Amino acid sequence: MNKTRQEISPGQLYRRLFSHILRYRTHLLVGVASGLVVGSSVFVMLQVSWQMLTVVESNVNTVPAVAPAAPAGAVDLPPAAVKWTRQAERLADLIGVPVARADGRVTWQFLALGMLALLVVVLGRQVAIYLNQYCLRWLGARVVRDQRDQQFEAIESQSLSFYGRMDVGRLISRSVADTSVVDGVISQTVADISRAPFEILGAIVFVVLFAQKKDMFDLLVLAILGFPLCIVPVIVLGRRVRNWTHRSLERISDLVVRMHENFTCIRVVKAFHTEAAEIGRFAEENRNYFKTIMRAIRVELLISPAMEVVGVCLGCIFLLVCVCKGLHLSDMAVIAVAGVIVYKPIRQLSRIVPTLERGAAALTRIFETIDFNERLPERPDAVRKTSFDDRIVFEDASFRYTAAGQPVIRHASFAIPRGSTVAVVGATGSGKTTLANLLARFYDPTDGCVRMDGVDLRDIKIADLRKLVGVLTQETLLFNETVAFNIAYGTPDATQAEIEEAARKANAHAFIAAHPDGYNRVAGEKGFVLSGGERQRVAIARIMLRNPPILILDEATSALDTVTERQVQEEIALAMANRTTFAIAHRLSTIRRANLILVVEQGVIVERGTHDELYAANGAYRRLCDMQFSQQDADRG
Ligand SMILES: Nc1ncnc2c1ncn2[C@@H]1O[C@H](COP(=O)(O)OP(=O)(O)OP(=O)(O)O)[C@@H](O)[C@H]1O
Ligand SMILES: [Mg+2]
Repeated sequence: MNKTRQEISPGQLYRRLFSHILRYRTHLLVGVASGLVVGSSVFVMLQVSWQMLTVVESNVNTVPAVAPAAPAGAVDLPPAAVKWTRQAERLADLIGVPVARADGRVTWQFLALGMLALLVVVLGRQVAIYLNQYCLRWLGARVVRDQRDQQFEAIESQSLSFYGRMDVGRLISRSVADTSVVDGVISQTVADISRAPFEILGAIVFVVLFAQKKDMFDLLVLAILGFPLCIVPVIVLGRRVRNWTHRSLERISDLVVRMHENFTCIRVVKAFHTEAAEIGRFAEENRNYFKTIMRAIRVELLISPAMEVVGVCLGCIFLLVCVCKGLHLSDMAVIAVAGVIVYKPIRQLSRIVPTLERGAAALTRIFETIDFNERLPERPDAVRKTSFDDRIVFEDASFRYTAAGQPVIRHASFAIPRGSTVAVVGATGSGKTTLANLLARFYDPTDGCVRMDGVDLRDIKIADLRKLVGVLTQETLLFNETVAFNIAYGTPDATQAEIEEAARKANAHAFIAAHPDGYNRVAGEKGFVLSGGERQRVAIARIMLRNPPILILDEATSALDTVTERQVQEEIALAMANRTTFAIAHRLSTIRRANLILVVEQGVIVERGTHDELYAANGAYRRLCDMQFSQQDADRG
């Protein structure tokens, strides 16, 4: 994973993010355009304040304080200010507002007009700020929503072999912690990014024009050189922030893994009374996470002061230049205003860079997740298959879970004709569930193949195959939803009557109805509040409702008491009459009626036949039978 991280530069990451953002170009355009308005308003405000200061300064210099106010433009103003005043007068004339009274004082109408203009400008600026923030924050939240969807879809679509490798906690952490980082980047930072550079640019353009007018090219050089100098510490330190953030995201994943593992195995933790040890382990991981984020924070907090020190140094040099040049007070004040205005966006920019670097670290992991590609492959020309007509055949199928691992199934060849029951027996770890996994196509054989009605399972559309094959897994898994939801899972159109009928078939109706909440009783995390047997019966009802033509039963009835087990067996046998069953059972009594029994030892089918044939053959099956029956006799005795 580190390899991938080094391969992708932040530029590439943000290009990919930007191409996603472009899907919402209306919001982007409105957001950036309003940012532009806000940014350029700085330039306008600086221009206006400069002109006004010049007028005020000229008035102070030329008109005695006690003298009556002269008509506008009558005083000895600099040419630029005269031009500005004339423009205002012309505009007032155009809309019929008198500018000056007979005594030379400015009219209240002209004053009101000025105030109105100011109000409009201020309001316009605030509306633009609102639009800018709203559109870009919407954009951030929207992109993050898409990324969560994409991540969930990507993770959900991976094959079971992927889940065998990945920690669930790590996957959860990527979907939650990493996307929140990106949320922060887009929602908060993009709004600043679209405004701050324009504000800085506005101020810089003003300084450049000002310098040009005043013939102060040394000031210009200072502005051009100074700005990049301020950015240097941001870039250098920002890179370190990214690295530490990447590590901190990995550490938070460790934390989530620890939490997930503990909460899902809480019964074991309680049974072995290891709470204190687990709390200690968690505290250790948490301490590591704390240390990592503190490293990132230490670097991040250095950025702003470093920028400020560089900025203040440049400001001092600038003041010296101004003093040497003998500048007017108004000129210095205007430059100072430009400095104050530019200070805020520069500070924002100094925060943006580390945030962007943090975002790059999170984006690396998010794109990595979205690009996971361990899906169960489906051929583009996969065939539709809506019915099972003849037989399933294992043709010399072999399988290993990992490329480097030992084969778990070796050269399995057998047929399951339609309507028959094939049972698999064998010691624990011999490969029974794995055989069922190949039949359900949770995994593909590494050699050989499995065919249904002559078609390789790999050539059948996965959705069709899932409808044809139902699996009652060895471990009963329920959702933390109502019992009715769990029974109807995978059969969304089922009516309440159908749900109850399925529950009756699975012998589950009685215990469900006995509870005050009935079918609305919530099953708890993984069915926590139900007993093992109840959980299994709900799972059996779920498969009964789905009613697939092929059924895989993996130790389906092992958690039921002997009486209930027999009842459920009979129900299953009834429901599965004329259906095809692949049954795995440790209790050999439950599979006596099977048409074919396969005995598996270390992945190899060592015996095959009916119960009577195999018992008579006096081999591995007979040994298993005798062992179990003598155990039962011993239990009874
Ligand atoms: N996801 C996996 N990755 C790697 N190896 C696995 C995986 N699942 C099972 N195995 C290994 O494959 C072998 C066969 O496992 P399998 O689950 O098929 O046994 P089983 O016959 O069903 O056993 P049991 O009767 O205990 O259920 C075992 O040695 C097991 O350790
Ligand atoms: Mg098994």
